[in-house]
Amino acid sequence: MNIIVRQGKILSQIADLAVVALYEKKKGKTETWDLPDDPRAKTIADVLEEDGFSGRRDEWVSFRSFGNYRAKRIGVIGLGKREDIELDAFRLLGARMIKSAKGPKVYEIAVAFPAVDAGSLSLDRAIEAFAEGVWMGAYRFHPYQKKESKTGEGVEIKTVTIVIEQRSMVEACTAAVREARVLSEATMLARDLVNTPSMEMTPARLAEVAKTVADTSDRIDIKIFDAQEMETMGMHAALAIGRGSQHAPVGVHLTYHPTSEPKKRIVFVGKAVTFDSGGLSLKPSDSMTTMKIDMAGAANVIGVFQALPLLAPDVEVHGIFLAVENMPSGTACRPGDVVKAKNGTTIEILNTDAEGRVTLADALSYASELKPDALIDMATLTGACVVALGEDVAGLLANDRPLADALLAVSRETGEALWELPLYQPYLPMIKSKIADVKNTGGGRGAGTVTAALFLQQFVAKRIPWAHIDIAGPSYAEKETRSDFSFGGTGFGVRLFLRYLQGVSR
Ligand code: BES
Ligand code: MN
Ligand code: ZN
Repeated sequence: MNIIVRQGKILSQIADLAVVALYEKKKGKTETWDLPDDPRAKTIADVLEEDGFSGRRDEWVSFRSFGNYRAKRIGVIGLGKREDIELDAFRLLGARMIKSAKGPKVYEIAVAFPAVDAGSLSLDRAIEAFAEGVWMGAYRFHPYQKKESKTGEGVEIKTVTIVIEQRSMVEACTAAVREARVLSEATMLARDLVNTPSMEMTPARLAEVAKTVADTSDRIDIKIFDAQEMETMGMHAALAIGRGSQHAPVGVHLTYHPTSEPKKRIVFVGKAVTFDSGGLSLKPSDSMTTMKIDMAGAANVIGVFQALPLLAPDVEVHGIFLAVENMPSGTACRPGDVVKAKNGTTIEILNTDAEGRVTLADALSYASELKPDALIDMATLTGACVVALGEDVAGLLANDRPLADALLAVSRETGEALWELPLYQPYLPMIKSKIADVKNTGGGRGAGTVTAALFLQQFVAKRIPWAHIDIAGPSYAEKETRSDFSFGGTGFGVRLFLRYLQGVSR
């Protein structure tokens, strides 16, 4: 799908569908709709009146134009209260619009972009968010379906033309759409990787995809470590988790070099468990059905690297993941086993289903050796985080105030909701082991997300600003609770990380 920006009038556009977005009308006031300045708009007002349209967010009305307009259909979408509008509202508008617009014979859509007059919002940024919403909302994953079994599909929409009034803004808005495309495509790559079944998305396959992305740019280097090399490097913790699987573990280290002197060195680590059965501490069947998503952190790393050469921030970026499959078998690690991670810390594995933190122990140890200015990891780490924050919100735990604040600020812009939980040091005794340095569970007394993060902290070198983002909830959308989510993997965190990097680069 292509998105273009054009100066013009919406009711003069030739399209299968012309969409007008309207702010909510205040109750009891006799104000008129902010409709296009065109005598033909009178009929739209009549339809809105008849259908009781109020302009609430996501409200949608559409009707055949029967030759009264140049577009074959007219759609009207509600934006909600004008005074409540913020950047993310435009993203959700784009997503809601594209979902509502799908229908038989709708190929070309024109949409009149509403007036943007809220505080610090500019038209180009609003259009950028809108375009992200359109692409992300339109995303569907169906490489495994016959044409006729594709559910809820209309025909593919080919073009969305964003119609604006100011000719002087066309160039800036076109550039904004171009950037939105890079961010959305990175997100959709991450979604594809998450949605692909674990039988295909094995550790080796994940490394292969990373290699494909690295090969697209000479600004990206890649090192791939096989299990033997990981052994030599001392990554005994990750290897222990992967030991039960037929698919050997693989380590991946991507590096992006900017064209000019890098302002900072940032390392991004992703959890990469290609399937989490729980291992010998086997999960109940119902908890296992979605566990192909347990490499969402690594999928985000790969998505981010696809975008980096195109966004070109002045930052040296490292992306690291240690891919393993967590399976029960005669060779699997056992509850009670003790392994030594790369930084020398020993771990008592009491629950093989708390495997993510054990693999991350080695990944974070390795990342720390790069002495980054900031280290950020994303991981589908704990069910406890879903209990605490639900399906939409990721947990943030950090050892550095400025880093946490920067991520929280970016998250408000990208619509990827983050909520901070405490890296509460007094809980450290909960992960102390009697026979090793640490154990991999918090003993079931609550605060599962906090104790998991405290565990990770044992592998991050002191004085490195570090943030851990638990994406167990939002990395997968069972229901499309946000309109820019589409069923399945969400790519939550890709735009967050890229926008954060752009901030660092400024
Ligand atoms: N991958 C899971 C966490 C998860 C749960 C992600 C639900 C997405 C949705 C993780 O490896 C896990 O199993 N965690 C355990 C930890 C426990 C055994 C200490 C959990 O949360 O139950
Ligand atoms: Mn697990
Ligand atoms: Zn897991």
